[in-house]
Amino acid sequence: MTRLQHFGWFLARGFGPQGWGQPALDWDYDWTRPEVYREGARLLEHAGFDLVIIEDAPSLGSPSTIDLRVRHAFGGPKHDPLLLAPSLFDATSHLGVVPTVNPAAYLPYTAARQFATLQHLSGHRLGLNVVTDTGSARHFSDAPPLGHDAAYDRAEEWLAGVRALWHSWEDDALIADSATGVYAAGSKLRPVRHRGTHYSFDGPLNALPFSDGDPAIVSPGGSPRGLAFAGTNSDVQLALAPLNEASVRDYRAKVHAAAVARGRHPDEIKVLFAVQPVITPSAEEADRIVASSARPDDSALVQIARKQSSDLETDLTSLDLDRPLDISIFGDHVSRGSIQRLLGDRGETAPLRAHLTALARMGRISDRTGFVGTAEEFADMVEELGDWGNDGVLLWGDFHPVTLHRTLDELVPVLRRRGLLRREYVDGGLHANLHAF
Ligand SMILES: Cc1cc2nc3c(=O)[nH]c(=O)nc-3n(C[C@H](O)[C@H](O)[C@H](O)COP(=O)(O)O)c2cc1C
Repeated sequence: MTRLQHFGWFLARGFGPQGWGQPALDWDYDWTRPEVYREGARLLEHAGFDLVIIEDAPSLGSPSTIDLRVRHAFGGPKHDPLLLAPSLFDATSHLGVVPTVNPAAYLPYTAARQFATLQHLSGHRLGLNVVTDTGSARHFSDAPPLGHDAAYDRAEEWLAGVRALWHSWEDDALIADSATGVYAAGSKLRPVRHRGTHYSFDGPLNALPFSDGDPAIVSPGGSPRGLAFAGTNSDVQLALAPLNEASVRDYRAKVHAAAVARGRHPDEIKVLFAVQPVITPSAEEADRIVASSARPDDSALVQIARKQSSDLETDLTSLDLDRPLDISIFGDHVSRGSIQRLLGDRGETAPLRAHLTALARMGRISDRTGFVGTAEEFADMVEELGDWGNDGVLLWGDFHPVTLHRTLDELVPVLRRRGLLRREYVDGGLHANLHAF
């Protein structure tokens, strides 16, 4: 049974250099200027995507490893995605634009006001990807960083405060009656007096209420605390999980149970599974790419080592590829989960080459071992996900026009023909389009 799916694009390098370090993408775009992003946003809108999410990490990480983050531009530089949003709204009419925001970085009143302004300016197309990274805490205050769950608690307090401010105007507060000369009734504004663990502020907000819903809340955390956050707050949950039936159904059931536990209906949250497809013109080409990825040469391994060095804030590029990886080189600031993901089930005795080779390996969509395949094969996978009750997928990549065209040019007509991708938007902005089907 085919049913329409929702499609998002995760702009994985954020508001940063697009295509850097990949000679094939050397098109002389200036990433600090809006054109390359505007071009990408227009293309996604033509393609019928619901939203684009702009990745962000405000920090360059630990002071001692900054060079690893910037040397190959994997961790920075980056500009603030919130301030890119107006330019993308201006370039499009229907696409939802979702900058990543970290509650640590914005006082609730400032946040509520800026987001309200963007929601109005965009015709209700703003979303917020709310993340709880704690490594950037030192840029915002000298308080010690919060733990994992405490950062979610703070995000929840922050969002509740932001929402209380957005709703500080009662429905009939705005009168706008030129006959009586009354614009608004101050008696209908709620004072909003918040005294919490992390924030204290007073309202009401000096901004108009929304006619087509609040900005959409997007969340990417998959831990029990992350899913509880999604259940309480989110309109869209970004899922990173194996795409077999048991795992997809299990992930969705957990998100829905979290929503129900907080008095919400499961349909209020759309779950998008993250995928990074390599769309090929033929199955033979897909087979060739997968086969050659099984035997990466040393330069391919070095490229992967560079990205891992940035993400793990530990220099792997100077290590001997053929010696076991000594995990004592990872400092305390590196997440144990990330180290475990690098080691996989190969353990600490395997040489670094084995870990990097495993990361280089790609798989075919057709046998569900990976994401390399034809547009038809990708559409089969999306359709199968839909059969399991899923809402949609989040395609993951940079925003270079070549990347977008390589991924979408053949895919869009196939998805449309098969009734999986919308042909038109409804009025009303991001909420309305997320709930149009
Ligand atoms: C699809 C996806 C997108 C994410 N985007 C960001 C991001 O832009 N910035 C960020 O700091 N973390 C991002 N994260 C990481 C999450 O915010 C979070 O740190 C991670 O999923 C761990 O949370 P958990 O412990 O609740 O699973 C992303 C995660 C996923 C799966």
